[in-house]
Amino acid sequence: TPPAQIRNFCIIAHIDHGKSTLADRMLQMTGVVEERQMRAQFLDRMDIERERGITIKSQAVRMPWEAVDETFCLNMIDTPGHVDFTYEVSRSLAACEGAVLLVDAAQGIEAQTLANLYLAMENDLTIIPVLNKIDLPAAQPEKYSQELAGLIGCDPSDVLKVSGKTGEGVEELLDEIVTQLPPPVGDADAPARAMIFDSVYDNYRGVVTYVRVVDGALHPREKIVMMSTRATHELLEIGAISPDMVASKGLGVGEVGYLITGVKDVRQSKVGDTVTAAAAPATEAIGGYREPRPMVYSGLYPMDGSDYPTLRDALDKLKLNDAALAYEPETSAALGFGFRCGFLGLLHLEIVRERLEREFNLDLISTQPNVIYEVTMDDGTAVEVTNPSEFPYGKVAEVREPIVKATILAPSEFIGPIMELCQGKRGQLGGMDYLSEERVEMRYTLPLAEIVFDFFDQLKSRTRGYASLEYQEAGEQSADLVKVDILLQGDGVDAFSAVVHKDKAYAYGTMMAGKLRELIPRQQYEVPIQAAIGSRIIARETIRAIRKDVLAKCYGGDISRKRKLLEKQKEGKKRMKNIGTVEVPQEAFIAALSSD
Ligand code: GTP
Repeated sequence: TPPAQIRNFCIIAHIDHGKSTLADRMLQMTGVVEERQMRAQFLDRMDIERERGITIKSQAVRMPWEAVDETFCLNMIDTPGHVDFTYEVSRSLAACEGAVLLVDAAQGIEAQTLANLYLAMENDLTIIPVLNKIDLPAAQPEKYSQELAGLIGCDPSDVLKVSGKTGEGVEELLDEIVTQLPPPVGDADAPARAMIFDSVYDNYRGVVTYVRVVDGALHPREKIVMMSTRATHELLEIGAISPDMVASKGLGVGEVGYLITGVKDVRQSKVGDTVTAAAAPATEAIGGYREPRPMVYSGLYPMDGSDYPTLRDALDKLKLNDAALAYEPETSAALGFGFRCGFLGLLHLEIVRERLEREFNLDLISTQPNVIYEVTMDDGTAVEVTNPSEFPYGKVAEVREPIVKATILAPSEFIGPIMELCQGKRGQLGGMDYLSEERVEMRYTLPLAEIVFDFFDQLKSRTRGYASLEYQEAGEQSADLVKVDILLQGDGVDAFSAVVHKDKAYAYGTMMAGKLRELIPRQQYEVPIQAAIGSRIIARETIRAIRKDVLAKCYGGDISRKRKLLEKQKEGKKRMKNIGTVEVPQEAFIAALSSD
């Protein structure tokens, strides 16, 4: 297809504003998916995505559309919606010329709409404002057209009104995509350059790489080069998705599609990387490439120690499809053998954990998530800490922690509670704007560690669910952080070490010590539980001694019952973990780790 007849677009929307439903309706109206094949949310192929109603992996579909007496080729590129995948979103946007900014006509603009809109504007995309769900009785198209027009600087009458559910207005939207969006531009005679905006692992085909060709063309059977690694592969197949993979004789300027090289690991096809042809390679890669980098770490341990090899195999398999997942073996005195895993964010962690449990039938314990700290010692040596228990002792000169720029959107009556929350989380207000009289956008810089903890839950409860939150990583900053250890009879329990702000160390110490006192059964002797910063004890609780006499209940009773009880006691001992001389049931650790 000549570039003049190509339009590449994506749909950006807050969660539940109806992106998938609208995409499905477009597939149907363009005849790509026939009515009888149509199942809800055609594009969300993974079960887990469908169940959670979120899109994890972006994909691209080609749709023919007849407008102004010509057939155009529309490529709809699906963007992942969640904050954890910001980098992937930005690459998907970079593959488009325009974006449909979809807003629920009964809800108005939300934080995710804004964050993605800013990303789209950074990428110079043409924005088409659209109100969705106008069939809803609660829809307020007038009010929200104004809001949307105010935000992007257009006339309220330019805001399209559609219903993905009934199909109303969707044909007009497809026509507007053709007329408003510019065609892709590129140099057809230049060496081939294509940007990777996603890659997925397919059991049968190996890695399927999604690309957008910028210059030149790629053809099957030629040798291609991944510019970030210089790795060379043979291009076994290239084509477009419509709605299944359709092989073609090549992809040219502005075209979007997939390629297959037979590699088995998505790390060979990195999002943001540039693909070129080995025979006549481009000299300069397309800008914006970045290595995937985990932001949040957590220890994953099998509930049953004998599942450790299964967990290792499962992680190896998941990694094929998830370039951002990192892991390495780790041992914990409290939890046994497991892995320290790195994730893009909390949702990513939850998804991986759920897939491990569901697809590999594992029961897992995960430790409290933490961020990466850069610790510089007085003597100038620097370490990167991904596990609080490895935080160095001794003279620390500086600790740096990752920070994020957060956008919070809420009804203006909640400004007070939100400010209070953000201040308590060491946030700094960057600015505040009213989108309308009753809705405000607040911009904060916050430590990622504070968001990872329970920020979102607290935000929701303080605003009765009305606030929405979006954030992007924004580098690191120096902070007054210390490591708090929890000691049982003088021995550290690794899983409970935490890096916290100095002002919160005492609160963490007393909370953890108190929790463990409740959970650990009495022993034959007194057991002190202490919280310490280095060698300084900041909190203490004591488990009083007791002699557990299981036979007391059966005074004079029959002997077989006594034997049974003794046996039961022995069984219970098996699931005990020894911390120094203290025996602790594993359940106590699990209960203490689960936040409530
Ligand atoms: P993610 O892709 O998971 O971010 O969500 P989404 O934005 O795709 O939302 P989805 O399409 O799953 O729609 C969310 C809910 O809104 C579903 O219950 C839909 O049935 C409903 N919905 C979507 N479009 C419309 C519409 O035009 N009218 C009405 N009444 N409901 C709609």
